[in-house]
Amino acid sequence: MNSMTIQTAPTCDRPETLDDVALKAHIRGLIDRWGDKLVILAHHYQRKEIVPFGNFIGDSYYLSKMAAQQEKAEHIVFCGVHFMAESARILCRPEQRVYLPNLRAGCPMADMADDAQVDDAWEWLGQHIDTKKIIPVSYMNSAASLKAFCGANGGIICTSSNAEKAFQWAFARGEKVFFFPDEHLGTNTANRLGIPRDERVLFDPMHPPTDPRPFIKARVILWKGFCHVHTNFTVGHIEQARQNYPGIKIVVHPECKEDVVDRADAVGSTAFIAKYVAAQPAGSIIAIGTEINLTSRLADEYPDKTIFELSGQNCPLCVNMFRTTLGDLAECIENLGHKNEIQVPPAIARDARLALERMLELS
Ligand code: 13P
Ligand code: SF4
Repeated sequence: MNSMTIQTAPTCDRPETLDDVALKAHIRGLIDRWGDKLVILAHHYQRKEIVPFGNFIGDSYYLSKMAAQQEKAEHIVFCGVHFMAESARILCRPEQRVYLPNLRAGCPMADMADDAQVDDAWEWLGQHIDTKKIIPVSYMNSAASLKAFCGANGGIICTSSNAEKAFQWAFARGEKVFFFPDEHLGTNTANRLGIPRDERVLFDPMHPPTDPRPFIKARVILWKGFCHVHTNFTVGHIEQARQNYPGIKIVVHPECKEDVVDRADAVGSTAFIAKYVAAQPAGSIIAIGTEINLTSRLADEYPDKTIFELSGQNCPLCVNMFRTTLGDLAECIENLGHKNEIQVPPAIARDARLALERMLELS
């Protein structure tokens, strides 16, 4: 074994303080008082101390499904990032109320496509291609207004767990897919569907194209956006891990670059990663290419397996997921009905819901 240090504990872990213990008891008390009028949804990347408060814990697909299915809840608190809470708001009933405990928790990748950029791109494409032949597919990691754009233009939403099905749905209805904002999920999906490279093209909103010919030829138009957490994983990390631990299993998220995805043993959503780890036999060594809080929690959950994050010395932390603290959660529940509520204008919600429901009908 060479000298690379593999961390089995994340650098963002810290010991529990007395304040944490008291806050947790306080939050439990608040939750008990609300009973089934309150539902908490927690994404896999939330801090370890937040996750146990989730009535439902999962990937963005599962949590959106759960948001749509709540019958008794009057209040839905989404421990995650803004686009997730917005999607829950769109999918739940109008009289239900949805909250994000820390309103600064956004997603930089979702912000890489805005309304004006997508409208401009669509208009430019329309000057050269009949846009009826183009089906817009937006990743869940996007603003509600872009989901509405998809709904209004015959398109669909996907998450990392159903991108292939969404592309197939789109190809059954049009000749081209216009996918935003994650270039890498789009590339990995096109690879899985066997779409030749010369039938794909990248749309860079920072440097809009002038030559329409590659777009006229392409079947897949990909937006140049990325997740700064997942694009940090490299082929070098995979080679190093395999060299250090022969027989190691490597599982990564499809927001990683294609060379990383191609060399991994398995790829899938955060829920897929959790299931994959659970299915490996005791004694397995598993490196995970995704956000550190999920990896760290899985390492705690399966002490009979050696589980570490693929990049070794980096701490692949999503600072936005990490923003939500116990204090935020407590304050949010204390002020239900008054603070931290997520609203979506009705016209946007109507079209976005159409696109989200098309996704929920996929499987
Ligand atoms: P999942 O849909 O796999 O939970 O992923 C969400 C996300 O933001 C990954 O970075
Ligand atoms: Fe967005 Fe990346 Fe964070 Fe996921 S991990 S919420 S894609 S910034």
